[in-house]
Amino acid sequence: MSNFTLGDQMRKFKSVIVTGGAGFIGSNLIRYIFEKSGFEGNVINLDKLTYAGNPYNLSDIETAFGGKRYFFEKADICDMNAVKVIMEKHSVDAIIHLAAESHVDRSIHSPEEFIRTNVMGTFSLLECARNLWKDRTDVLFHHVSTDEVYGSLGDTGYFYEDTPYDPRSPYSSSKASSDHVVMSYFHTYHMPVTMSNCSNNYGPYHFPEKLIPLMISNMLEEKPLPVYGDGKNVRDWLYVEDHASGIWSVVTKGKIGEKYNIGGENEWENIKLVNVLCETVAEFSSKDKDYYKKLITYVKDRPGHDRRYAINCDKIKKELGWKQSVNFEEGLKKTVKWFLENKAWIENVKSGSYKDWVSKNYGNR
Ligand code: NAD
Ligand code: DAU
Repeated sequence: MSNFTLGDQMRKFKSVIVTGGAGFIGSNLIRYIFEKSGFEGNVINLDKLTYAGNPYNLSDIETAFGGKRYFFEKADICDMNAVKVIMEKHSVDAIIHLAAESHVDRSIHSPEEFIRTNVMGTFSLLECARNLWKDRTDVLFHHVSTDEVYGSLGDTGYFYEDTPYDPRSPYSSSKASSDHVVMSYFHTYHMPVTMSNCSNNYGPYHFPEKLIPLMISNMLEEKPLPVYGDGKNVRDWLYVEDHASGIWSVVTKGKIGEKYNIGGENEWENIKLVNVLCETVAEFSSKDKDYYKKLITYVKDRPGHDRRYAINCDKIKKELGWKQSVNFEEGLKKTVKWFLENKAWIENVKSGSYKDWVSKNYGNR
């Protein structure tokens, strides 16, 4: 039976590149692969180490598997020569592609890097894979994408896999472009590809520019908690390890040439979420329940702010047997606990280029 036949058999690979493995989701995915997936091959973490990438995120994996089954390669996905050398050196038979510029606000201030990394970088990886793999069918390019490619919902409705694309920010349009390029390699060159489009993740190692970790970090410093607009925009939140298990399900069992939505089925208005977060941090810090709520500050809205995201993920549940395993209350508690126990990590990632960017664009936020 071929590696790519569906049925009871899962696809097996020997040597998998995870791009962007030093970032938030990538590091959680690599930890999931080593600790929970049962995978027995090698994992190569290919990452440029931008402000968002931190090799410390995987120090435990480096200690346990470094040089044996885990290999870190610092490289830019746009550098085709570097990618080719790394793919050849490790005889790579699968790529799980996460490397990207990922923050919507940054894409509004400085869109160029988003087009370069997210569009050109994805193209560069695909070209390297096409040149090296040729017409092999025992290989896979899995593209990790976002629900933001579908645009913005009103009060009702959901994003399905066949919802037409309608991206609105430079970030989401760069991801939408890369999704199309990936699918074009399946249709044109018959490259074995799969794709997943996920909702908002949260959990350990989340960079403190995004809503949940920014709020926790600001509470710890007793700084204002900036809520954009009227605070009623809605996001669907998923614990990051559940995203990792979803990606792994698609990589090992997903149909070639198909995409799968992954989501939390867990919608929250931002302002309600921030209030719950204030209470959770207060509980862990032995403060009065409402202590941090006084820091909530409504600020100018994000330009083009998408109103509501909501994922329908029936396909991955029904076809691949995936489901969420961490409920929101439990996930928020795990997340808050992790951030409180890792204040040095927050300080570390917020220093350097992140600090310069924040002060240039937001002042002392
Ligand atoms: P992140 O910003 O935390 O990490 C991105 C990683 O990519 C970093 O380690 C960075 O160093 C690396 N990187 C950036 N540019 C690179 C380049 N040119 N070459 C090599 N490496 C480079 O992002 P994240 O939140 O972990 O998101 C990972 C992926 O998942 C992205 O593709 C994103 O679009 C997608 N996604 C994220 C979410 C979410 O809620 N965070 C939800 C759905 C999909
Ligand atoms: O939906 C998936 C996407 O989720 C991913 O593709 C992106 O990579 C990821 O960054 C995330 O995008 P969002 O823009 O939804 O996430 P962010 O944490 O930036 O914002 C979440 C919501 O909170 C959004 O409605 C904007 C609002 N917000 C955000 C920040 C940073 C605030 O109100 N205040 C803030 O300071």
